Amino acid sequence: MTDKSIESILTEQRQFPPGEDFAKAARYKQADLDAMYASAAQDHEAFWAGLARELLDWSTDFTQTLDASAAPNYRWFTDGELNVSANCLDSNLAERGDKTAIVFEGEGGDRRRLSYRELTADVCRFANALKAQGIEAGDRVVIYMPMVPEALIAMQACARIGAVHSVVFGGFSANSLRDRVIDAGARMVITADGGHRGGKIVELKAATDKALEEGCEHVDRVIVLKRADCGCAMQDGRDIWWSDAIAGQADSCEPVPLNAEHPLFLLYTSGSTGKPKGIQQASAGYLLYAKLTNQLIFDIQEDDVFWCTADVGWITGHTYVAYGPLAAGATIVMYEGAPTYPDGGRFWSICQKHGVTIFYTAPTAIRALMKLGDDIPAQYDLSKIRLLGTVGEPINPEAWIWYHEVIGGERCPIVDTWWQTETGGIMISPVPGVTATKPGSCTRPLPGIDADIVDEEGTPVDAPDQGGYLVIKKPWPSMLRTIWGDNDRYIETYWEKFQNRYYVAGDSARRDADGYFWIMGRIDDVLNISGHRLGTMEVESALVAHPRVAEAAVVGRPHEIKGEALFAYVVPKGDRPTGDDAAELAKVLRNWVGEELGPIAKPDDIRFADNLPKTRSGKIMRRLLRIIARGDEITQDVSTLENPAIIDQLRGDA
Ligand code: WTA
Repeated sequence: MTDKSIESILTEQRQFPPGEDFAKAARYKQADLDAMYASAAQDHEAFWAGLARELLDWSTDFTQTLDASAAPNYRWFTDGELNVSANCLDSNLAERGDKTAIVFEGEGGDRRRLSYRELTADVCRFANALKAQGIEAGDRVVIYMPMVPEALIAMQACARIGAVHSVVFGGFSANSLRDRVIDAGARMVITADGGHRGGKIVELKAATDKALEEGCEHVDRVIVLKRADCGCAMQDGRDIWWSDAIAGQADSCEPVPLNAEHPLFLLYTSGSTGKPKGIQQASAGYLLYAKLTNQLIFDIQEDDVFWCTADVGWITGHTYVAYGPLAAGATIVMYEGAPTYPDGGRFWSICQKHGVTIFYTAPTAIRALMKLGDDIPAQYDLSKIRLLGTVGEPINPEAWIWYHEVIGGERCPIVDTWWQTETGGIMISPVPGVTATKPGSCTRPLPGIDADIVDEEGTPVDAPDQGGYLVIKKPWPSMLRTIWGDNDRYIETYWEKFQNRYYVAGDSARRDADGYFWIMGRIDDVLNISGHRLGTMEVESALVAHPRVAEAAVVGRPHEIKGEALFAYVVPKGDRPTGDDAAELAKVLRNWVGEELGPIAKPDDIRFADNLPKTRSGKIMRRLLRIIARGDEITQDVSTLENPAIIDQLRGDA
């Protein structure tokens, strides 16, 4: 055995129990957690009903906890009524009205602080503006904004009046925005002239105009925040500035009591077909889980400053920026720009300046910042940080240890949190004051979350370290309710595999001898690029939409920083380009995909071939393509290939 493999085994077996001081001061201690597990095991529904009454303010109490009559379309707290925004804002006013809710820093260094009282007033003003523009409960509103407080204000304002928001990440292209606007049947788009990212201006209004050119007649109003002052066209009768929309609006707005199952938001995410899925979340169950996990996993206490670096365009930015931390009464940090602008110390400078105590980010950011060296974080005072978290993809032990030593000063627990857009909140994670962590493992399912690993037949895999399907065997409050407009796809994607008995996450996992979960990766055609989900089919459809492309296949290959990178094989129309021509066409196609889907979807590699490797029955041999993309030796039998000679082209040797 080489030194390196011995070292990796040793590293993986290292355990990190929480420090004594941390454990002593934590909200949840071993005894609390034990009691929660016991209570959930004894009566799953009563466990959730108890928490729902303890943690949330209801305008009408519920009499039914779980309605399974239309399973797997489960419903929670079905006859209860509440308002999500009231639970995030109003319920904090008496106790902490003057406490800072949001500390904002723009990429250019501009700063703003909003107390709970000020934030509530801003949300109310904007909610009144929405009403004045004719938005009613149930209407869909698309939010396409930079990471500024107004994005969160828009979300909370929708929640206050029962409008269903669908946030589209500002890095997505006009075409992606259009698809989502159409699928959601949105009446309104809320955007900004532009936002700042990496020293450049992202022109969101221009992209919005382009998106709305076709097929979006149902959008009759666009509200535009002036953020970047970059100038933009305003369409008469349709577009209105944010400042004009709120002018004269009252700073109070009665929160509308809504049914627990009223849809709170749609959030589109990639699946294994070319069409993104509108994941639909309901109000009360989501809010409950968001609040609970912010307290349980992030140990949010009165003096904490919580910075989750996710954009509100992703689920992490919903549950751990826009909703959960506010419901838990926290002070949060919001930052508009790139982690490396103007240099690799930006994150650490923000942590120092605003006294961040809890820091939550993605492994891809950790790897990128780690690569810049230890000298950069060493220039900043990170001593206030007491808890670290990661999300979005498996974290390699090397990055974990760096995070622990260099950012956490070896004193902070790390919570490696496994969850999905569909689960609404963190499902498998350490509880920081209790669980001994192992680098690379998300440890154990939370109380009330019945996660398991099963084989092809649905039988639990009990032997340690055997891989299998990660499933959730009992419904939980923040589970997705359906895929917007396509319930068949909901059932097919998440439930059919095991006859509607278990929720199938789409990940494979193994459990070690201590019962710790290790996520192994996706089992479908979904890739995880820098912690962002991307369906290979989406990229393939974008590629074949280009006039010079006849056929395309996209696979993932490991990437040092992004986790996974996109590798595209393209069969061009006409002659196969080589040399400079190939490089030129590759560039054109990369930009094309960037335009079609967004910059994150640009393939890292594009290789041209006369054909794709197919079996005699015409199926693309994706496994073979993955092997070639990794540069591994081909050991599989390629004799069934229709055209074995193309292997050299795919390898780039011909
Ligand atoms: C992956 C992000 C390993 C996983 C919240 C999942 C992870 C997908 C982890 C969901 C983790 C998320 N360890 N893998 N801690 N967290 N994943 O919907 O493949 O953007 O299915 O939600 O990210 O991505 P999504």
